[in-house]
Amino acid sequence: MENVKTFKITDNNLKIARDYILSDRLVAFPTETVYGLGANALSDDAIREVYKVKGRPLDNPLIVHVDKEYEIEKLVYDDKPYAKALRETFLPGPLTMVYPSKNVVSSLCSCGLETLAIRVPQNEGAQRFLKAVGVPIAAPSANKSKHTSPVTAEHVYEDFGEEIAMILDGGRCEGGIESTVLDVTGDIPVILRKGLITAEMIKEVVGACEYAAENSELKARSPGTRYRHYCPKTQTALFEENALEDAVALYDKYISEGKSACFLAVSDVCVRLSEREKFDLGKSGAEMAARLYYYLHEAERFDILIGIKFTPKDEIMLGVENRFLKAFG
Ligand code: TXA
Ligand code: MG
Repeated sequence: MENVKTFKITDNNLKIARDYILSDRLVAFPTETVYGLGANALSDDAIREVYKVKGRPLDNPLIVHVDKEYEIEKLVYDDKPYAKALRETFLPGPLTMVYPSKNVVSSLCSCGLETLAIRVPQNEGAQRFLKAVGVPIAAPSANKSKHTSPVTAEHVYEDFGEEIAMILDGGRCEGGIESTVLDVTGDIPVILRKGLITAEMIKEVVGACEYAAENSELKARSPGTRYRHYCPKTQTALFEENALEDAVALYDKYISEGKSACFLAVSDVCVRLSEREKFDLGKSGAEMAARLYYYLHEAERFDILIGIKFTPKDEIMLGVENRFLKAFG
């Protein structure tokens, strides 16, 4: 089928995107993390459409995206000096901050919470889109609920095809995993979802940063981190690194039956797999983040994807590990 939904980011196409957004249609756009499925955050109808098309549970709130000149005080209460310091250091960038809401955007964005998550992406295409539409944009990752997050316009098209109005194509996302979600409503910042901006980086700027404990009240307020997620549409199997022989035996069994198989593993493991098909995640957290979702999508053309667990060596790798494990269920 010819893909008639994917558009280069030109001034003319941005005008078309604006018209769609202002008539409650959905427009997917690139960011530095993953593609977003954008809707007018001021419109209940547009937000309802996001939940419906994505198949998203109704208790999982959405992040509102704004361009870098937007005054966030229009949408939220911002009384924490440390939050200002963090914005000045990390924004625009892959950091989403959760503030007390002024209830200006559709209440459906927050799912009944008193807070609102705001993100200022740094990707140039995202900035041009947000500037062009002129309204705050609620956007979850542009994948069907539970499926792997998209890092190319083609990935978005595979999930939504003709169901959405438009896909703005900004090439492959360089960051690769979703933004860090940081609660800034309390005395110190609390990480609700790990990402490319780490606790260490935040501490360096404002002295303190915590992770929300599993089962904590704060964590319960970020339900997105609870569901099964990121699953590729193919069979999967997961092995410990010290059970590599068993993993190889499973691979060889598939091949001997005339089926296809591939591995997903860090470089140190890949070198031990000789000529077998593999996706090499690399060595550092940043490298792995940039590759993980792309490879999970690529692996869908194989009959089975065999993942080999790894031990996180830096904080970004912790965020990658979290998604890697969820992808394998
Ligand atoms: O990098 C990203 O953040 C991407 C791009 C498109 O910006 N977006 C993204 O959205 O990952 P989504 O919907 O897939 O994940 C949003 C996460 C969920 O875990 C959700 O629970 C949490 O943010 N969240 C949203 N609003 C919240 C709020 N008011 N309080 C706590 N958590 C919130
Ligand atoms: Mg998502």
